[in-house]
Amino acid sequence: MHNILVTGGAGFIGSNFVHHVVGNTDATVTVLDKMTYAASSDALAGLPEDRVSLVVGDVADATVVDPLVAAHDAVVHFAAESHNDNSLRDPSPFIQTNLIGTFTLLEACRKADVRLHHVSTDEVYGDLELDDPKRFTEDTPYQPSSPYSASKAGSDHLVRAWVRSFGVRATISNCSNNYGPWQHIEKFIPRQITEVIEGRRPRLYGSGENVRDWIHTEDHSSAVLAILERGRIGETYLIGADGEKNNLEVVRLILRLMGRPEDDFEHVTDRAGHDLRYAIDSGKLRAELGWTPTYGDFEDGLAQTISWYEEHADWWRPHKQAVESAYAAKGQ
Ligand code: NAD
Ligand code: DAU
Repeated sequence: MHNILVTGGAGFIGSNFVHHVVGNTDATVTVLDKMTYAASSDALAGLPEDRVSLVVGDVADATVVDPLVAAHDAVVHFAAESHNDNSLRDPSPFIQTNLIGTFTLLEACRKADVRLHHVSTDEVYGDLELDDPKRFTEDTPYQPSSPYSASKAGSDHLVRAWVRSFGVRATISNCSNNYGPWQHIEKFIPRQITEVIEGRRPRLYGSGENVRDWIHTEDHSSAVLAILERGRIGETYLIGADGEKNNLEVVRLILRLMGRPEDDFEHVTDRAGHDLRYAIDSGKLRAELGWTPTYGDFEDGLAQTISWYEEHADWWRPHKQAVESAYAAKGQ
């Protein structure tokens, strides 16, 4: 693949993937991004201009998407509204971008016979009990809980239908919770790190027992590239790095790494419909494609991420007040 279109390539994971492709292949990349509140052109700074270009546009706009898709060998589809709490405040952009956007892209790939990789989430499977020995696999039934996860589940079903009915050459990946540089400060880990930097206390929803399966975004990128290059058409691959931790453990670790007492946090109003636990079995990806994560130690990865936010306050501080006001309005 010489020429890759990356939707949502100015977001947290998409921009990491663009850097990963430039660093590990000879391909050129076009980013298609609507540059919503979640995008950052800074995250793409320093990339070679002869290999990476940015088109500002909507993945749900066929007049933009059709000619762009036809001009590329492959599409990697990251573009989405991605935050559960926002989907509880206003689901409509989630339906528009995650469903209509994916439909628009699928139609373009169908017409031009272009290879597609669809990036999705483990949240499509709903949640697990804390003591359930099972983890999610590619065969777990779909049971999404929030407007966000329902919109992503719907987008996965569209991709599967376009593969089966129209022969679109697509793969799907469902990944667990990412952390790392350039993640928007509305999300759990960067919200807590930046609260501590600002001299305030981290905020835990409910009891803090909820478990997430953390993976560094760099490992997500290497998995997506492996699937794009070597994955079997029509297949789904789960991506995870055996990183289960409950939210209480993560907050305590952040506080310890930042030199504050480990109990210096607040419990706040729980998220409506809050999924209890996610856990990924990535055995298929590892066995079939030989993928392994490189960030084996969550504490090391988190310490690096904390340093990154300390060094990039100019990037996140202008947005901090608006993010916190929206949370405060809901008692969070
Ligand atoms: P993000 O919110 O940081 O970035 C999303 C990007 O998509 C932004 O640059 C935004 O401008 C762009 N975008 C939004 N609507 C668009 C539209 N209509 N047209 C074009 N561009 C649009 O999200 P992220 O955390 O980087 O997630 C990227 C993808 O990975 C999403 O599909 C998400 O569902 C999936 N995913 C995320 C995680 C995670 O932990 N963050 C885990 C698994 C899967
Ligand atoms: O599992 C993959 C998903 O992970 C992705 O599909 C989503 O795009 C991504 O946002 C993420 O979803 P979560 O809802 O799990 O992530 P979030 O960072 O919003 O929250 C992580 C956990 O922390 C969750 O249990 C809610 C909790 N939380 C969150 C915030 C913002 C808190 O306790 N306090 C907070 O302030």
